[in-house]
Amino acid sequence: MIKHDIKDIGLAKKGKLRTEWAAQEMPVLRSIKERFKKEKPLKGFRLSACLHVTTETANLMETLKTGGAEVFLCASNPLSTQDDVAASLVKFSKIPVFAIKGEDNRTYYRHINDALSLKPHITMDDGADLVSTLHKTRKTLINTVLGGTEETTTGVIRLRAMAEKGVLEYPIIAVNDAYSKYLFDNRYGTGQSTIDGIMRATNRLIAGSLIVVSGYGWCGKGIAMRAKGMGARVIVTECNPLRALEATMDGFEVMPIFEASKIGDIFVTATGDIDVISRECFTLMKDGAILCNSGHFNVEISIDSLKKISKGKRVIRDFVEEYTLKNNRRIYLLGEGRLVNLAAAEGHPSAVMDMSFANQALCAEYISKNYKKFENKVYSVPEEIDRKIAFLKLKAMGIRIDALTVEQKKYLGSWEMGT
Ligand SMILES: NC(=O)c1ccc[n+]([C@@H]2O[C@H](COP(=O)([O-])OP(=O)(O)OC[C@H]3O[C@@H](n4cnc5c(N)ncnc54)[C@H](O)[C@@H]3O)[C@@H](O)[C@H]2O)c1
Repeated sequence: MIKHDIKDIGLAKKGKLRTEWAAQEMPVLRSIKERFKKEKPLKGFRLSACLHVTTETANLMETLKTGGAEVFLCASNPLSTQDDVAASLVKFSKIPVFAIKGEDNRTYYRHINDALSLKPHITMDDGADLVSTLHKTRKTLINTVLGGTEETTTGVIRLRAMAEKGVLEYPIIAVNDAYSKYLFDNRYGTGQSTIDGIMRATNRLIAGSLIVVSGYGWCGKGIAMRAKGMGARVIVTECNPLRALEATMDGFEVMPIFEASKIGDIFVTATGDIDVISRECFTLMKDGAILCNSGHFNVEISIDSLKKISKGKRVIRDFVEEYTLKNNRRIYLLGEGRLVNLAAAEGHPSAVMDMSFANQALCAEYISKNYKKFENKVYSVPEEIDRKIAFLKLKAMGIRIDALTVEQKKYLGSWEMGT
């Protein structure tokens, strides 16, 4: 048996079936896999991936392996692993996986180190924990790394900070910043799956609830839009005046978090920031307020402060912890404050991950062909990859679009012609 550390290999059959189900909604990745099968662009490359271990990730891993890469996989969050998928990848795809749902922080980092033991040429990260571990404690491995990719907003922010400080030691492509990624994955993916996570965890009625969405970035826009669509009354909290204005004109009420804290039924953070819902907010909340987070790390809700001001805590349902404050009010925290869409539901629908992971596969190929030209910087996804993915997705959906005429192309590239 290949190397692995997973919960239960006996779950493999279920994981395989669910992975096949997801594959049906991933036509773009499938077409890349078919080409990779013939061309083997990743032959000779070792790739360590740190991603949420979901059915969609399983399809990506199989695509990369089909392209010739040797791949190791670990989780990018302690609560997001689907144990049946991990088992299926080990048993049927013969891919080493190191991930167990609910693993503690020590095991989480041990697993990242296990994935790094492959001595990768390419890293594929979601949140930059693998890259930062490599830079902090496994520096001897960096010489072999040719390039990497990063999946999410928070990871890109961390990597840009590293590049600015001059400590990033190899080039990374910011997959998150491709249009074909964030416009769909962050907005429609997080929008739908966050509401799904809240519903699965609580079974609360969304219609009529007052939902407070903190952060009106791409994820927040999606969450607010979907909550409104289900009949919730939605309040947005923001710190960026442009985004706050946008939320206002999109028809949402905007106010500071301290005001929203007094009236909200359900709170969702999606900012990438720390302490967005802080101690003072908890003391203002109604009895029974529900809190959850869809931002990358479990730092958006000040959980330590919540613990300090609580006199008791119990798990009342799967993924629902009830905190009783000293004033006897109860506050419910979903998924331990970790990404609620992955902790309490299954993450994004496969149809959006199709585009995100098509970006990952094509960027891995791009690195394998172009690494010699790169500097130690954070790069954008090449425009031709971005457009190609949108084109392939439209094609798979049976949607045709117009092409510019010669005259139109000329006009759009000129300045001479006016009214
Ligand atoms: N749950 C998922 O599956 C999933 C998917 C994609 C991204 N993410 C993560 O979600 C987070 C948000 O991503 P995004 O793409 O929407 O980012 P974004 O940069 O587009 O938006 C974040 C917004 O939060 C606002 N903000 C920051 N601090 C705030 C505060 N204290 N109070 C109120 N607003 C504040 C910013 O002004 C910004 O408008 C990131 O951590 C990202 O990695 C999660």
